[in-house]
Amino acid sequence: LHRGAHYHAGVRDPAIDAALATLGCADLAELTIGGIAATELVATFGSPLYVFDAAVLRDRVAAVRRALGPRVELLWSVKANPSLAVTSCLRQAGCGAEIASLGELAVARAAGHAALALRFAGPGKRDEDLAGALAAGVGCWHVESADEVDALARLAAAAGTRAGVAVRVNLPHELGGTRLRMGGRSSRFGIDADQVPAVLRQIVAAPSLRLLGLHAYAGTQAFDGTAFVGHAAALLDHAGRWERELGVALAEIDLGGGFGVPAYAGDPSLDLTATGQALQRLLAGHERPGRRWFVELGRYLAAPAGVYLTRVVRQKQSGGVTHVAVDGGMHQHAAACGVGTVIRRPPLLVRATALQAAGGAQVTLGGPLCTPADQFADALPLGPLAGGELLAVLHAGAYGLSFSPHSFLSHATPAEVMVDGGRARLVRARGAVDAALHGQQP
Ligand SMILES: Cc1ncc(COP(=O)(O)O)c(C=O)c1O
Repeated sequence: LHRGAHYHAGVRDPAIDAALATLGCADLAELTIGGIAATELVATFGSPLYVFDAAVLRDRVAAVRRALGPRVELLWSVKANPSLAVTSCLRQAGCGAEIASLGELAVARAAGHAALALRFAGPGKRDEDLAGALAAGVGCWHVESADEVDALARLAAAAGTRAGVAVRVNLPHELGGTRLRMGGRSSRFGIDADQVPAVLRQIVAAPSLRLLGLHAYAGTQAFDGTAFVGHAAALLDHAGRWERELGVALAEIDLGGGFGVPAYAGDPSLDLTATGQALQRLLAGHERPGRRWFVELGRYLAAPAGVYLTRVVRQKQSGGVTHVAVDGGMHQHAAACGVGTVIRRPPLLVRATALQAAGGAQVTLGGPLCTPADQFADALPLGPLAGGELLAVLHAGAYGLSFSPHSFLSHATPAEVMVDGGRARLVRARGAVDAALHGQQP
């Protein structure tokens, strides 16, 4: 459970070295982000701190576009990090966006996206979500039930508009090689393939709807590119059959995404180049005039661009174990504490001022919350650690703060900083210490 085995005998997980190389710190003794020392960032902006590197975001987009080729349009999944600065940076780098709430709609629009270019997914869109985003002019709805199609048709008619629709398909076979599957069996996500023909007819028959195509998203942390392409092939088989049998045009095909990025010791890596080549071969066989292809990614674009910095606050011995309490924790980076995983393993964690150190004394690292779940790792050979020493969780640019129970224990939320061109700027202010009172009445 939660063992730091990846550091044993001085050998550490290759994912840590790859993550440091992405940040340009492969051979450095001290962590820098965008050329600025992590210690300097914390001295200026405080701790705990999220730092995002704009150059890494741009590099990730460029690498994915190179791999997938010019025919595939790349969408940023705002849910992975609803930071306005990150979303703006990715828009400027050429990404469209995929949203799942009115809050994400607000972030995407503030980042400069036209509502018409946005695609709105999610199984539980309420009538007020549909009406609000229709009024804003969202261009494509990823519908997840026949019930939602009815509501959208009714609300679009009432608004005197025509809503573009793509049907999210739950294919009968699940996507292998992913950590968290969202299809291939009874699911809240997407419409079972055998029910899709009826839904396509329903859309075509509704004057306030316009059928655009299909969407599929089968799971996150997909490390097996072959399985991803196989899933896309199955979707395209269905698409071809439905077009022939129903006489409909499915012009826009969103193949989903979920490309995997190592988050914990022992995680594999996705072969992006091979995945892209196989996907391009597949798509070439299904081209037609007017067809648009989409891939939507969150973690793959943003995780490697982010670092979560936290400082050592207290240390003590208990039962022969060195317990180190840090100022960050599960309330700010739940995934780094293993929330959402079945077998808990340490995150990609390093000492910011001793990057190449490995194989030291074992320590157990936890945060300030009153739950044993608030623990980054147990028996991690990172010690001895000095009081105030800075630690860094790498690959922290996705599913960080927004995926965390940050109101638990009412600590202030961390600040967020974007580093670009050798300069750091605050892009989310640290929360107020009395923010827990916000909106409350005695
Ligand atoms: C519909 C949809 N699209 C995209 C994503 C982004 O996934 P990832 O960050 O793994 O790329 C998710 C994540 O849950 C999703 O549900």
